[in-house]
Amino acid sequence: MTLPMTVMDEGLPTRIRIHEVGARDGLQNEATIVPTEIKAEFIHRLAAAGLTTIEATSFVHPKWVPQLADAERLFPMVRDLESVRLPVLVPNDRGLDRALALGVRQVAVFASATESFAKANLNRSLDESLAMFEPVVERARAERLHVRGYLSMCFGDPWEGPVPVDQVARIVRRLVDMGCDEVSLGDTIGVATPGHVQSLLATLIEEGVHVSKVGVHFHDTYGQALANTLAALQLGVTTVDASAGGLGGCPFAKSATGNLATEDLLWMLQGLGIDTGVDLGLLTATSVWMAEQLGRPSPSRTVSALSHKEP
Ligand code: HMG
Ligand code: MG
Repeated sequence: MTLPMTVMDEGLPTRIRIHEVGARDGLQNEATIVPTEIKAEFIHRLAAAGLTTIEATSFVHPKWVPQLADAERLFPMVRDLESVRLPVLVPNDRGLDRALALGVRQVAVFASATESFAKANLNRSLDESLAMFEPVVERARAERLHVRGYLSMCFGDPWEGPVPVDQVARIVRRLVDMGCDEVSLGDTIGVATPGHVQSLLATLIEEGVHVSKVGVHFHDTYGQALANTLAALQLGVTTVDASAGGLGGCPFAKSATGNLATEDLLWMLQGLGIDTGVDLGLLTATSVWMAEQLGRPSPSRTVSALSHKEP
């Protein structure tokens, strides 16, 4: 298999944790509902490729996201995977109850930096949605679960346009103060550019949010996800969300396309000599297999290049 030459950059972290979101962010956005057995096999194959944080599903209202309505059936099919963290999304107490009943150990609440998306995604105002998360985070921590706080629309919003950095920083602070162990900065519609990313991260660092608590979650609508990731690594971020094969999107934000493809990220990290423990060949084979299940090719450039048969 072709691999990039390794040329290290001393200014970058030496190890990155990939938070794989293909099974959740990817499959929540598919027009067709993927059979539960295929989802379970997908997660097993992601784990076999070396991914150690694999977001499995969401315990949201099944009418809101029918694609993930099988969470109760899926989670027991994957929960015994060794040395793999399997976070799930929980919006409210009901979601947390469902997750706890199945032995989930990592959960994520998902807030919005804008009023419009809070309403579209959670049927609540921004403050009401944070109030909904508070008891969830408190109870999850009391149960010693790891809690991630997603924050969507950190760079731009389809209804409100560009989102001021200070507005985002204020809500990141509220999620951290609420007790979230980490906050993932979502570029839900993929409009961020590297300077904007560094400006937000610099503001957060200035305001005392430690960079080890921050993850980045870039959708690739305008082809900026990898450049934005590198910009984040330059400021010390070591948690990067990505989606095998570039699956993804958000059913409640029309302009959201797939996430940064995990394979594209791995190609860059491999070239920079940054360790992830993930096998690019096995992961590419998984994305090719998943693309066959979905009936269309993966949008990942790396998957496409590596799976192209030599004449
Ligand atoms: P609501 O309609 O306001 O719910 O939805 P409610 O609190 O009024 O409750 C109404 C009924 O739903 C009640 O049943 C509840 O029990 C039930 P009833 O008493 O009428 O029989 N219910 C539930 N049932 C099962 N599981 C639950 C649940 N909650 C309530 N968890 C709600 C509010 C938050 C539930 C809804 O808006 C929802 O499920 N939203 C989820 C949206 C979603 O999943 N979006 C995609 C994930 S976010 C994303 O993709 C962005 C991200 O990738 C980062 C980025 O890219 O930016 C993370
Ligand atoms: Mg997303």
